[in-house]
Amino acid sequence: MRVSESVALVTGGASGLGAGVVRTLVDQGGRAVVLDLPTSAGQEMADDLGDAVAFVAVDVTDPDDVARAVPEAARAHGRVDVLVSCAGISSGQRIVSRDGTPRPLEHFRRHIDVNLVGLFDVARHTVSAMTGNEPNAEGERGLIVNIASIAGYEGQIGQASYGASKAGVIGLTLPMARDLAVWGIRVMAIAPGTMDTPMLATLNEEFIDKLVADNIFPHRLGTPGDVGALVAHFMENTFLNGEVVRLDAGLRLTTN
Ligand SMILES: NC(=O)c1ccc[n+]([C@@H]2O[C@H](COP(=O)([O-])OP(=O)(O)OC[C@H]3O[C@@H](n4cnc5c(N)ncnc54)[C@H](O)[C@@H]3O)[C@@H](O)[C@H]2O)c1
Repeated sequence: MRVSESVALVTGGASGLGAGVVRTLVDQGGRAVVLDLPTSAGQEMADDLGDAVAFVAVDVTDPDDVARAVPEAARAHGRVDVLVSCAGISSGQRIVSRDGTPRPLEHFRRHIDVNLVGLFDVARHTVSAMTGNEPNAEGERGLIVNIASIAGYEGQIGQASYGASKAGVIGLTLPMARDLAVWGIRVMAIAPGTMDTPMLATLNEEFIDKLVADNIFPHRLGTPGDVGALVAHFMENTFLNGEVVRLDAGLRLTTN
């Protein structure tokens, strides 16, 4: 699949990693639709990047909204070849407070709802649109890229909710690839390490410095462009399927 001939739907495309994916694909001649919250900067991005980018507002946790927004996004450029699911939330919460009181269950539910159920719901509607594509010379109709996290393997203190949601994303990638092979749709995932996005602002600077120091090499934050480049590679390299690729400079998270 060539980037320059493809249309990508990018959830969470108004900020951080999603915005980096949109910019990378557009720089390489592709087109994109930003799917993000109505309160996001999605419309400004579309205005800024011109005809190659459209914005469709959606809350991925609302099934009716997803059922409306995905077909609308697929119509924006007349087709959809790739879905990159970046929409996500992250905040820390220990399971019980210092005096042993259970912390609110809502925190866990919310992370699962946005990061896992929302990702799956957008994927099933997007796949439904992709099944109508004419297969290319290799028999390919589409590509799904799920954004997980290395916290899905080795979540730290306070990351039970986030880590569980991302472990779910890792866990659904292989069965999804197996389900969709019959349609010629590949499914890949990226597990980013410490990336320079607004999400990182939830962590203090000292903690971020420690994470960067723990990278094997290089000792820098990952960038949205690093993720965009990997998505572009997934598109062009049809032999990649059913795999989660760590994009983390070799970082292995420790207890905290
Ligand atoms: N930044 C990191 O270090 C890092 C590391 C590993 C994984 N990730 C993952 O990468 C993805 C992107 O994160 P980011 O760092 O770019 O964060 P970000 O906060 O910059 O972007 C997240 C985007 O998701 C959107 N979003 C949130 N809830 C939504 C909803 N209900 N419906 C639709 N859109 C919604 C937000 O509006 C925002 O535009 C997330 O899934 C995150 O878990 C980030």
